Amino acid sequence: MKQSLSKIESAFLEEISQVSDADKIEEIRVSYLGRKAGQLTVLLRGLKDLSIEEKKLIGPAANLLRQKIESTLTEALQKAGSSAVPEFDLSLPGKISQDKSLGHLHPITQINRELIRIFQSMGFQVLEGPELDNDYYNFEGLNFPFDHPARDIQDTFFIDSKITREEPRDFTRNDWVMRTQTSNMQVRVLEQAEPPVRCIIPGRVFRNEAIDATHEHTFYQLEGFVVDENINIGQLVWTLKEIFRQIFKQEVKLRLRPGFFPFVEPGYEVDMFCVFCGGSDVSCKVCKGLGWVEMLGAGMIHPNVLAAAGYDAGRYTGFAFGIGTGRLAMLKYNIPDYRLYMQGDLRFLEQF
Ligand code: DAH
Repeated sequence: MKQSLSKIESAFLEEISQVSDADKIEEIRVSYLGRKAGQLTVLLRGLKDLSIEEKKLIGPAANLLRQKIESTLTEALQKAGSSAVPEFDLSLPGKISQDKSLGHLHPITQINRELIRIFQSMGFQVLEGPELDNDYYNFEGLNFPFDHPARDIQDTFFIDSKITREEPRDFTRNDWVMRTQTSNMQVRVLEQAEPPVRCIIPGRVFRNEAIDATHEHTFYQLEGFVVDENINIGQLVWTLKEIFRQIFKQEVKLRLRPGFFPFVEPGYEVDMFCVFCGGSDVSCKVCKGLGWVEMLGAGMIHPNVLAAAGYDAGRYTGFAFGIGTGRLAMLKYNIPDYRLYMQGDLRFLEQF
């Protein structure tokens, strides 16, 4: 029996050394390991007729030979490049064909990222705030007293729910709102931060508005504020000018008009001189020939807001501003209708 094993082994090695194509290798496999008539299979089948001593002797040797034949066959197949051995690697990333579009960032995301990059280069920290907030941070802490008519300026979505939670204050009143402005982060940040504070908060805000070409119920703002000793309006103007210079890639002229926002004093509406027509073209879609375009609201943070956050309003001052980033992108890219942003129409989106 042992002799048969070594005969089979040398015959197999002899045969396998002479072939190199996959079909022939398969034939050899069948002739040695085939389930019905493979030479080694037949021999192994005969083991059962042997005595126990013989089995102990021959069994392991026969199994060893079987393993040797199997691994030699696999090696030979690999050398032959057989399809039985996978010719592709499933863990590789897929190939991207040239005619498949990959998609890209939404124009509002693009302008937000551009703004974030510019502000970061000027040392501003970037923060996020809650979209569902309570009356205190969205209004009251920002110097909108409970019965103040200024609340009506911002058509608010009130949340009908008695959510309560542990906060520095008692929020047991049913006073949850979808934030109407990213200014809701002013008091929240100042409560926690020590001056100097320099941060921006880009984010989504919500208003119960009738929708038209310039109004959406869900839109994007970027709030920014700086608080320290000796912060002044000159620094506010310089900062805004520098931002717009980088966004519009040219020097810009700004104009400050008095504007009312309860959380700033003085407050301003900030206009930019039209970078498209310079006020010379009555048919200019951006300024309509007026020359000036309204860009944002800004001002010096009201002492009541600083006090609400626990600051010494005699010692610290700050400026704040709120930019509508969707509106800014409309100006920059000459987009005629705010509603286009949310419609998911590829003919629009693919232009950015
Ligand atoms: N939060 C205001 C709004 O949504 C915009 C604004 C105006 C923000 C003046 C400011 C500011 O920080 O100083 O209408």
